[in-house]
Amino acid sequence: MRKYRVPLPPPPAKRYKLTLLPSGKVYEVDPAALPYSRHGLPGSVLDVVSAQDEHLIEHTCGGVQACSTCHVYVEQGAESCNEASEREEDYLEQARAVKLNSRLACCCVPDGTRDVVILVPEWNKNEVKENS
Ligand code: FES
Repeated sequence: MRKYRVPLPPPPAKRYKLTLLPSGKVYEVDPAALPYSRHGLPGSVLDVVSAQDEHLIEHTCGGVQACSTCHVYVEQGAESCNEASEREEDYLEQARAVKLNSRLACCCVPDGTRDVVILVPEWNKNEVKENS
């Protein structure tokens, strides 16, 4: 079995806005209030979104980096996000329609220096529902 070293990225150091597409919902992220939920790394996109909207980003494994259902595209602010770990990259390889700006929402932790725009692929949600 392959072993992974998964370093914990630092949580955001500043307040910032996370916009989720296609819904257009904006989340004001307050680093002092993290973690928001029990899903994903503290301060991750999944942590922020699932605290208010449990079903806007699918997360079959519960955010423990063991599936690829939380695949999202970072449309803006990628430079403020942690680098993908080897484990994340391995799971991303299993996702559909991977692009250069693909991330797993449970692993992607913005540092707060930029506002971030995240696009959730519609087909991702449909695939989970059809297979459940
Ligand atoms: S929720 Fe499973 S890898 Fe992110």
